[in-house]
Amino acid sequence: MAHSLPSSRFSVFLFCILLLLLISSSTVSGARLGNARLTDSSSIRRILLNNGLGLTPQMGWNSWNHFHCNINETLIKETADAMVSSGLAALGYTYINLDDCWGELNRDAQGNLVPKASTFPSGIKALADYVHSKGLMFGIYADAGTQTCSKTMPGSLGYEEQDAKTFASWGVDYLKYDNCANTGISPKERYPKMSKALLSSGRTIFFSLCEWGNEDPATWAPSIGNSWRTTGDIKDNWDRMTSVADQNDKWASYAQPGSWNDPDMLEVGNGGMTTEEYRSHFSIWSLAKAPLLIGCDIRSIDSVTFELLRNKEVIAVNQDKLGVQGKKVKKDGDLEVWAGPLTDNRVAVVLWNRGSSSANITAYWSDIGLKPSTVCDVQDLWAHSTELSVQDQLSAQVDSHACRMYTITPQ
Ligand code: GAL
Repeated sequence: MAHSLPSSRFSVFLFCILLLLLISSSTVSGARLGNARLTDSSSIRRILLNNGLGLTPQMGWNSWNHFHCNINETLIKETADAMVSSGLAALGYTYINLDDCWGELNRDAQGNLVPKASTFPSGIKALADYVHSKGLMFGIYADAGTQTCSKTMPGSLGYEEQDAKTFASWGVDYLKYDNCANTGISPKERYPKMSKALLSSGRTIFFSLCEWGNEDPATWAPSIGNSWRTTGDIKDNWDRMTSVADQNDKWASYAQPGSWNDPDMLEVGNGGMTTEEYRSHFSIWSLAKAPLLIGCDIRSIDSVTFELLRNKEVIAVNQDKLGVQGKKVKKDGDLEVWAGPLTDNRVAVVLWNRGSSSANITAYWSDIGLKPSTVCDVQDLWAHSTELSVQDQLSAQVDSHACRMYTITPQ
């Protein structure tokens, strides 16, 4: 009995030590859990293509929408000249991208792609050097099948490493990779091969996937490329442009810095839509963090097209560092509100009238993720005006097929 008290004290002491150890070990395991979560999120980040490019959507020009196969080295050089002299380059339009039809039908005896002698007699390296000498970046086009879509050039299927090395040796900065003559093999098998080949080509090359959204690339392409087409080809008309915008909208949550949904290149300035339709096209593409690749002839651009393509505030929404794709948040028949968050708690909003007559459109703060009581300054990005201390809602009369675009800044 005499010893039982100290021994029971000793048990209590031991119990306390054990308890302390248990608490500290659970803290440690809690910390581990925290670390594990951090590791999880950083590994989520790591599954993006690790080439450091596309932290904001790519901007530049591509030959296809306006010129199709009618391209040659003089046109590309003049386009690079115009990009700089017009001031577009200084606004961020830095890629000059060749599309289909730049090469000969067959590879050479060593299996290399060959620039088309009749249209690119100086070769692609000389052209890329010229583009670089203007302070711009140079992009090219290839196909993840046996032939390109124009059927005038070989595809890269089975030649991924060789072609990636060729592109790197020419000084290519950007590859658009198309999906024709694909022999029925899934893009999920064909595109990663080129992605890997580019990464080990010795040059940092932006990778733009173009499999037309066939196999929901948003769900697998972020680890492979910097952008992926979500749709078939855009056309220079209102119906197709709006349909492409809607198809792309579905994938909004998959976009992030380094990897973007691509609803195809701009038709602004090609003549098939009205000015207001082009304004809507450019506004929605900007809000949706789409690539801003000009698709018209910038050597002979008219002043209205310039006014659209050179809107700094609209471009700033596209290039906002937060990198969250804006989306359709409200639809009342043909009247739509599209919105998305920007850095510094700001919100970008587009009021879009897709109907055939003028109408009033309202975005309530609750539609666009703001508390109704929030007092905001509203900047109209096309009228270049600012309204101070606005609360609860924003309304505007919007013409048929036109839009209004704003950034909203809580005070
Ligand atoms: C299509 C592609 C277009 C253009 C064209 C060239 O598949 O979507 O953007 O590149 O091929 O032939």
